[in-house]
Amino acid sequence: MAAPERQDYVPALGTIKEVRRLTDLEKLFKVELPDGLGLDHRPGQFVQVSVMGAGEAPLSISSSPTRGPHLELTVRKAGKVTTALHRLKEGDRVGIRGPFGSFFDVERFKGRSLLLIPGGLGLAPMRSLIQYVIDTRDLYRDVTVAYGTKCPEEILFPEEIEAWQRTSGLTVRQTVDTCSPSWTGQMGLITTLIPPLEIEAGTIVVIVGPPVMYKFVILELDKKKVPHENIVVSLERYMKCGVGKCGHCTIEHLYCCLDGPVFRLPEIEHLRGAL
Ligand SMILES: Cc1cc2nc3c(=O)[nH]c(=O)nc-3n(C[C@H](O)[C@H](O)[C@H](O)COP(=O)(O)OP(=O)(O)OC[C@H]3O[C@@H](n4cnc5c(N)ncnc54)[C@H](O)[C@@H]3O)c2cc1C
Ligand code: FES
Repeated sequence: MAAPERQDYVPALGTIKEVRRLTDLEKLFKVELPDGLGLDHRPGQFVQVSVMGAGEAPLSISSSPTRGPHLELTVRKAGKVTTALHRLKEGDRVGIRGPFGSFFDVERFKGRSLLLIPGGLGLAPMRSLIQYVIDTRDLYRDVTVAYGTKCPEEILFPEEIEAWQRTSGLTVRQTVDTCSPSWTGQMGLITTLIPPLEIEAGTIVVIVGPPVMYKFVILELDKKKVPHENIVVSLERYMKCGVGKCGHCTIEHLYCCLDGPVFRLPEIEHLRGAL
């Protein structure tokens, strides 16, 4: 069945089919659109989600289109809209506009090794790409996920990560900044995951995480001589309209909602305030 026309201004009414607690701050919402239609989204895109009486917020789509027409949203309770969303239950309705923005260019990734570096909530958009890559596994060479969180309690999708580890040709490396005695894994900043990696020529590196992370991860990749044209980043900016009208999300001449959120590093690294 064809995807419905993209909703730029008029929200489609989605129904929450499942709510799953992920951590103290994050919940996963599975949302279905009317008639079981999908949005035909691509990994890396986002939707504007509205909650009646609270407002609207941009949220990445955390699920891959290869997993079905529904949308999964990983939502951190941050303020007015996301707190209202956290109060919703199965059967409740939300407004959905989109999908918006640029996406991970999986066509260009074909035949390459991939190094995917999500930090913290950066796993929300990255999960869509990871699921996509797993579902089209034969198209890529080695895939490595290097995931860092502040502490073990903030790890999103631990059971899925275990399943990813069992995928042939996919390796997950994890670290936490600080840990409780029960944590037996690696401790240190996400940058400590990079030096031991063997990054073959042509590897595409994708980075999504908090603003502070990009500069230091890129410095480590520079030491490994990864060309910047092979580095892809997804950036977060304060957004309102999501469709290039309000100007809230600009990085110099670029609109993060239209030209981004996914950029090739050379497109933005020279722009003031981009990273
Ligand atoms: C493209 C994109 C994708 C995103 N994907 C996700 C996602 O998958 N999951 C998720 O939980 N969040 C995501 N966010 C962030 C999310 O949009 C904000 O947390 C949300 O808009 C906050 O709305 P609120 O009404 O709950 O908070 P508000 O009451 O508006 O604000 C709470 C606090 O958060 C700050 N804030 C609001 N928006 C942003 C922002 N964009 N960046 C930094 N600080 C902000 C405010 O300044 C304030 O301090 C994404 C943002 C963008 C731009
Ligand atoms: S959010 Fe309005 S122009 Fe980008």
